[in-house]
Amino acid sequence: MIPDLSRFARAALWDHITPLEQAANISREIGGGPLFVKRDDANGLAFGGNKVRQLEYYLGDALAQGADTILMTGAVQSNFVRTAAAACCKLGLKCHIQLEDRVPKDDFEYNKSGNVLLNQFFGAALSFFSEGEDEQAADAELEQIAATYRADGRKTYVVPMHPSHAPLGALGYLHGARELVDQMNEMAIRPDRIFVGSGSGNTHTGLLVGLRLLGDKTPVTGVCVRRDAGLQAPRIRARCDHLLTMLDTGLALQDDDVEVDDTFLAPGYGRAGPQAREAMLLAARLEGLIVDPVYTSKVLAAAIRFSRAHREKTSIFIHTGGGPAIFGYAENVREMLNEETAPEES
Ligand SMILES: Cc1ncc(COP(=O)(O)O)c(C=O)c1O
Repeated sequence: MIPDLSRFARAALWDHITPLEQAANISREIGGGPLFVKRDDANGLAFGGNKVRQLEYYLGDALAQGADTILMTGAVQSNFVRTAAAACCKLGLKCHIQLEDRVPKDDFEYNKSGNVLLNQFFGAALSFFSEGEDEQAADAELEQIAATYRADGRKTYVVPMHPSHAPLGALGYLHGARELVDQMNEMAIRPDRIFVGSGSGNTHTGLLVGLRLLGDKTPVTGVCVRRDAGLQAPRIRARCDHLLTMLDTGLALQDDDVEVDDTFLAPGYGRAGPQAREAMLLAARLEGLIVDPVYTSKVLAAAIRFSRAHREKTSIFIHTGGGPAIFGYAENVREMLNEETAPEES
């Protein structure tokens, strides 16, 4: 059972259930097993995504502390900061976003379109940070900026990036896990495996802990989108243990509960390899579904590989959003489409 979460402050951002849909056209095309999509990309707030569930708890905490200014850090095309900028509008908070140089890309659309344009549309203040791989340094820079806001009389709240902070965002995916289990029961779906993106780890952690608290033993593969499996596995284990301590339920995870797969991470964060590009086109052309080049294409690629290998097995792909990145990465999307139409060499 998931314990009562009312002791954790929550800001209401989204109060609906996201669909669980079958991607029957993809399964048919690849000759694979049944594949379902949990549509957290369709959760309403500003193009949606997994970060809406997470922000309910970060921003709930911020409001409980009396903050009026939120500071966040993320990659240039981060979905987290875009969703936060929109959520701050809804909650009447000022938002400051720090964009980190994390991807070797410098074209106009990457720097100005997609999520960046939306951040500006939502009126967030933007600053830039030249280091993309040092979470502690990014947080420290944000703390310095927060001090300047405080000097102007504002009450600041920094949403940290470094994994030493309490995994408040993962609380949102306890609700996600409950919702998914209810849908699996209603639809009589017994998945053999669930695939979810694993970056900061909040989604993976909340979903995995939530399922286990509900007594659901379905294997969960965290598909690495940011760092390799050797780094991600201990990070997720520590995040899960931290969350379980916060919840104080007495549950402990088994060693084999934490599974991560970095097969589709190459060529690196923010860059889609061939299987991820294939997943983007299959989703678009067969299901009318947008999966992005940074996160969800890699997760869907892992689900497709599983489905191809096990015709008799059912899988669920947690679609965590990221749609606006299609515009931020338009150069790469066009390259992909050009490759597709390029004449074969004879
Ligand atoms: C679209 C999308 N999917 C998945 C992830 C990974 O989620 P998490 O950071 O909770 O591990 C992110 C993170 O930014 C994301 O934007």
